[in-house]
Amino acid sequence: MVEFLATFGAAAKELFDYNREMYEFDQAPLCLQRHFSYKEPQSHVSHARHPEELVAEEWEEWEESEESEESDGEFEEPELPTFAERKWSAPPQTWPNEAAALFVPLGPHTAATRFVGEAPVASWFPATLYNVLCELPVNEFDLQAWLYPKGSHLFTARQLQRLLEATGVTCLGRVLDVGAGDGCHTAVLRAVSQSVVAAETSRGMAWHLEREGYEVWCEDVSETFAERAADLARRKLPLFSLVSVLNVLDRCAAPRKLCSAAAALLEPGGFLLLASPLPFSASYYGPETGWNGQPLAGLEDLGFGKEGEDAWARDGLTMIQDFLPSCGFQVEAVSRLPYLSGGDVLDGGCIELDDILVLARKT
Ligand SMILES: C[S@@+](CC[C@H](N)C(=O)[O-])C[C@H]1O[C@@H](n2cnc3c(N)ncnc32)[C@H](O)[C@@H]1O
Repeated sequence: MVEFLATFGAAAKELFDYNREMYEFDQAPLCLQRHFSYKEPQSHVSHARHPEELVAEEWEEWEESEESEESDGEFEEPELPTFAERKWSAPPQTWPNEAAALFVPLGPHTAATRFVGEAPVASWFPATLYNVLCELPVNEFDLQAWLYPKGSHLFTARQLQRLLEATGVTCLGRVLDVGAGDGCHTAVLRAVSQSVVAAETSRGMAWHLEREGYEVWCEDVSETFAERAADLARRKLPLFSLVSVLNVLDRCAAPRKLCSAAAALLEPGGFLLLASPLPFSASYYGPETGWNGQPLAGLEDLGFGKEGEDAWARDGLTMIQDFLPSCGFQVEAVSRLPYLSGGDVLDGGCIELDDILVLARKT
């Protein structure tokens, strides 16, 4: 299966590149794009810079872009989301005081708006191929790794640092990014920490991450955490100061087991950084459950995922008051951000999900 995917992936990439050129040539904006310009992602193999240096640079870049836009008389406001709704900057009104007090507003979302304008969108051929192949018992993330351009956005280094600072953390040591995917957020984590290890069950994603210079554990850490912890101890390496599980909980075989594994790999007082689209809706396709779309054990017992107007607020509260404490964590900061990915032309391009972002300390 791996050889097949590798050969198939190479051929598909060739076709994809050709297709991308054709797309750029004749594409009228289908989604919210200002224009479609696929940018080769920057390599992140260089050593991490000091977070303050990076954050200052990022801020200057943002200010410059704002100034040049303001000073340009020709500039027309593009029809892009500005993410100005109240929901991004304040806790849900139905949350009790103790939960609302944990909310850290992380806007403005200039970077998110910019991402929507420039998101790399898969064109019709790879998108069609993906949809066809998804009918087979194949890892969907492997297909994405080979067929879709890299690109997603959740937070900038500055936003992440603000969340960390809200709990008194100024610099991170070793970080484990569980379910790193295409590595877009792994790169941000690397910018604010000493080192990052990526864990991935998709061999396709793992292959790309290795090429970007990450140490990659290609496995399900909810199965291997005990051996990994023992191995780190044998090599006299510390456990992790932060484990991130970003947009994985709803797409893995066993979400509760994964969070407990994260706790086991953290040093005492270490942090879990969790992001998840809400309302919570699990969707897992894998051999463990006969590719039926369901995880081995979901979180239905917690009452997640019930429809309704305030479903986000209810699931968010369940996440921070019930689920995470039951996995050995105490929530110290919460936020809400749009989770954006390029998507494909068949689905109208850029996809926006409504993420809760939680920083929780191991108890
Ligand atoms: C929706 S993607 C999220 C990727 C990235 N973290 C992000 O936020 O964009 C979910 C990723 O988690 C990976 N994954 C699912 N279950 C996993 C597990 N038990 N251990 C490690 N990775 C897992 C999948 O292969 C996929 O790449």
